[in-house]
Amino acid sequence: MTHSVSSEMRGDIAVIWIDNPPVNALSFHVRQGIVEELEKAQTQAKAAVLAGRGGTFIAGADIREFGKPIIEPGLPTVLEAVEASAIPLVAAIEGNTLGGGLETALACHYRISSAKAKLGLPEVKLGLLPGAGGTQRLPRLLNDLGDAITIVSSGNPITGSKALEIGLVDGVSEIAVEAAIELAEKVAGQPFEGRCLSKVELTMTAPIKATFDAAEIEVAKRARGAIAPLRALQSVRAAYELPFVDGIKQERAGFVDLVATDQSKALRHIFFAERQSAKPPVNVAGTPRKISRIGILGAGTMGGGIAMTYAEAGFPVTMLEMSEAALDKGFATMEANWSRGIRSGRITAEGVAERMARLSRTTRFEDLGDCDLIIEAVFETMDVKREVFQKLDKVAKQGAILATNTSYLDINEIAAQTSRPEDVLGMHYFSPANIMPLLEIVWADKTADDVLLSALDMAKKTRKTPAISRVGHGFIGNRMLTPYLRQANLLILEGASPEQVDKALTDFGWAMGPISVSDLAGLDIGYKSRKDQDLDDHEKHVYLVADRLVEAGNLGQKSGSGFYEYDPKTRARSENPAATKIIEEVRAELGINTRAIGDEEIVERTMFALANEGAHVLGEGVAQRASDIDVVYNHGYGYPRWRGGPMFYASTVGLPKLAERLVEWSNGSSSQHWNPSDLLMTLAEQGKNFGDFDQEN
Ligand code: 3HC
Ligand code: NAI
Repeated sequence: MTHSVSSEMRGDIAVIWIDNPPVNALSFHVRQGIVEELEKAQTQAKAAVLAGRGGTFIAGADIREFGKPIIEPGLPTVLEAVEASAIPLVAAIEGNTLGGGLETALACHYRISSAKAKLGLPEVKLGLLPGAGGTQRLPRLLNDLGDAITIVSSGNPITGSKALEIGLVDGVSEIAVEAAIELAEKVAGQPFEGRCLSKVELTMTAPIKATFDAAEIEVAKRARGAIAPLRALQSVRAAYELPFVDGIKQERAGFVDLVATDQSKALRHIFFAERQSAKPPVNVAGTPRKISRIGILGAGTMGGGIAMTYAEAGFPVTMLEMSEAALDKGFATMEANWSRGIRSGRITAEGVAERMARLSRTTRFEDLGDCDLIIEAVFETMDVKREVFQKLDKVAKQGAILATNTSYLDINEIAAQTSRPEDVLGMHYFSPANIMPLLEIVWADKTADDVLLSALDMAKKTRKTPAISRVGHGFIGNRMLTPYLRQANLLILEGASPEQVDKALTDFGWAMGPISVSDLAGLDIGYKSRKDQDLDDHEKHVYLVADRLVEAGNLGQKSGSGFYEYDPKTRARSENPAATKIIEEVRAELGINTRAIGDEEIVERTMFALANEGAHVLGEGVAQRASDIDVVYNHGYGYPRWRGGPMFYASTVGLPKLAERLVEWSNGSSSQHWNPSDLLMTLAEQGKNFGDFDQEN
């Protein structure tokens, strides 16, 4: 018997308990324990129940073991033994029953679930396919092949109630383990060979083939470059084409193959990175402050989205604006945004009313006096921020946290407007704030430890993924955007079309290309900010096309045209002849000899620029870890998750190659902005990568 698996007798029934906190992952000692306890149960009991301690059945294989030599017995061997048991086994499903956990339940002969349990095969989210029979047993069990296809290829879990509806479990009960014991008593001594899913025969028919053909097209399209979903689906298909033993072999081969890919490594990296980024920095101690009421300044784009986030999490929110009219507008927008979900069934009209009731409104600063956390989202100028924080200092109660959502401004300076800079920090949300998962928490010089911890705590309570940045222009994310967009604009000047730049990067996996993003955000935003800056000639040239577009009224999507033209009804984009003309004029004016530019160059220049700036951010201590930067880009900017993030991607390319290119480009005629990062160059020289840096720091 191992420590993490034990058993007890309940009459003639053995209950085998898995106890491997926090999620009952199938680490090697759990696998060993199951085999040992199963052997014992077969000599002592008439039937057995497999159950998990701590409210969770099994959340899957132990991801930390992937990529290391397998310690026997491997999960497929364990599950073979489970299914071949001489006594019937009932899985008592509670909490997370995912991946190898669900595969374990499928190898049992009966399944009872709690209604709220989460059952799923999330392997594709880790760049894998279920590797212990999931793709072979699931279609043999379910009433409808479509359900098996969805579960395997989406990776999304379903509830116990839904599992009952689609035939995945035999019953639902509040206390699954008790109901499982009851069922075990009933089936003890009865024949159960027909309950072994490996014995069920599947045949390929023309309609089933057509279902797979259609699903493969759909899944490949949705995957946007990720390979696992299609491979997982093809493994389900094989269940219809091969006998079970061969189907299992091909499934295993697919799993072994995928586990070694950069895609799976990247997805596992980001899985751990997003958990790491939510943890307090070392040496930050204390407990979060108690936060009951939220105050929000500004009911514009960001204030509205932030208020929605907190109201959705159940917090009462007071919103402050300059006028009743601005409040009316902000409240109407929030109500309309929520109400859009009524038609799709995401929310009911009562749900909208309930959330709206959590929002109150004011134009008087004194009314923020009872708020525990006040988040400012007013205009982005230091003068306005100064005035607002001076006023807040007068009215906020003692111990209230004062946060700013500023995108670029110096939060130390904002904090200095108050008599309590220790209570001030940045809470930088991304638009639309109620949807985008990232929260960049900006840790200012004087921010108190418990204020930082409170922000992390609020991220958790509002279901956001946090990443901590120190103060610096644009913090982590927006700062890195500048060199990325610089290269995108330069590539157009040198000969690429806006479409080519965007396509190379959407082919790389980005949700949108940089030029489309600029059009969506509005070209006037960058234009205005450039007017306030003292740019050198090179930098002025980089954005000359964008500036001329704005001056000719092409502000992007909002004006119907920018780098592209947009159909007023469908928003479909097409070439904007006015932009093409401006591009040609600017190229001629600057005396540029255009050349054919390949997609590889587009990807290298933009992605290496991003990683290089990330390395500066890291070297300066603005970010604590490279993996935090990856989290920022995944959750805030639509970076392809299966590439792991800009820093992980750089490591897969190889830092020596990156370093070589950076040196080459920074020696080029027009590239004084390359500025290769010392940290990157040193790591490249030492044969290390950003992962090593994270581990050593
Ligand atoms: N292996 C190893 N560690 C795991 C793990 C796993 N499968 N699942 C979670 N953990 C760790 C986390 O890293 C975290 O560790 P930390 O405290 O040191 O940061 C801790 O367990 C708690 O996890 P969460 O913070 O994520 O806890 P939540 O309660 O928020 O979420 C969960 C729980 C929904 C189970 C979530 O952790 C999750 O989605 N886990 C991954 C599930 C999964 O992908 N399973 C399939 C694995 S692949 C597989 O089974 C292959 C098979 O087909 C052969
Ligand atoms: P916005 O212009 O949509 O909204 C600002 C609101 O603040 C307006 O409704 C205005 O009436 C109100 N306001 C201005 N001064 C005020 C004052 N003294 N008291 C009370 N209300 C006042 O601007 P947006 O886009 O919401 O930006 C707000 C802040 O969020 C800025 O600091 C911006 O940099 C930041 N931000 C913006 C993002 C975006 O994508 N729009 C993303 C992340 C941060």
